[in-house]
Parts: sequence; structure tokens; C-alpha cells
Amino acid sequence: MKEVKIECILQAYDDFDELPTEVASLMTKASEARGKSYSPYSNFSVGAALLLDNGEIITGNNQENASYPSGLCAERTAIYYAGSQYPDAKIIRMAIIAGSNIRPTMSPIPPCGACRQAIAEYEVKQNEPIELYFMGETGKVVRSESLANLLPLLFDKSFL
Ligand code: THU
Repeated sequence: MKEVKIECILQAYDDFDELPTEVASLMTKASEARGKSYSPYSNFSVGAALLLDNGEIITGNNQENASYPSGLCAERTAIYYAGSQYPDAKIIRMAIIAGSNIRPTMSPIPPCGACRQAIAEYEVKQNEPIELYFMGETGKVVRSESLANLLPLLFDKSFL
């Protein structure tokens, strides 16, 4: 029997003001998108913004539904739109901001497992890392150099 250790190395910025300008402006777009979230059931709103290699910025937010599982997370709303509109573009980075509509959210909110899997699909497809930044409404901003870094043992087309 062998033990295998898998490491995940993240970078943490103390707050939004520490972000490089280009990342800060992408996070601002994510925040604007979050403001348009449709989240009457969870009262938890999420915004995502993607920068493509053609310079386009695609945003999305969570869209909920009275039939709960029919709703969709912000990250997937954004990435599926990017994939449908710009199938040949590569995604350089994604900024995510999330928080409760009821109480302050000061800790970084990572993308859920289903969104990680969805983002992984595009990272594998483009064969180049998608850089991720995520935060709460305020406080620390976490960076991951790639999606794969956030999803060890990811399932992809090589297994099919
Ligand atoms: N949500 C996202 O939009 N992204 C995530 O990665 C986690 C959760 C949404 C789904 C639902 O509308 C609300 O947040 C509460 O789970």
C-alpha cells in the first residue's frame, strides 16, 4: 500500500484592493453580475465574470427556480454562455463573488463541485489553465492558478 499526497496551493490576497488592476476590473464585472442574480429561494447571490483570449468579458449569475434543481449556478451560467457564443475562444480567467443577501459574507466562497467539473471541461478542451479568483462580498480573495488545482482526480474525456 502506498499513500499519495495531493497538494493544492492557493494564493490569498488580503482584500479586493490588493488585486492586480486587470483582475480587479474583472471582479467588479462579477460583482455587477451578482447584483442581477435571481436568487429568491436561497437569498444567496453569486456573480461570475470570464475573460476570453479575444478580449470579451462574459458574465453570469445564479438563476434559481421554484423547482430547485432546475436552477443554475453563476459559474455555469457564464461558462456555458461563453462556450455557446465563442466556441473557439480560450478562457484566461474567471472571477467569482458570492454572498448572502441577508448577512455579510466576509470569507471567500469557492465554486461548488458541479461548477468545478463544468469549468474543468473547458480547461481540458483548451489545454491551457483557467485562472480563478474567488471572494465573499468583502475580505480575502483567493487565487488558484488553474481549475485542476481545485479538483484533484478530475474526471475527463480521457476516461471515456
Ligand atoms: N451557487 C452558485 O451560483 N455557485 C456556486 O458555486 C455555489 C452555489 C448558487 C446556487 C444557488 O442559487 C445558491 O448559490 C445557493 O446554493
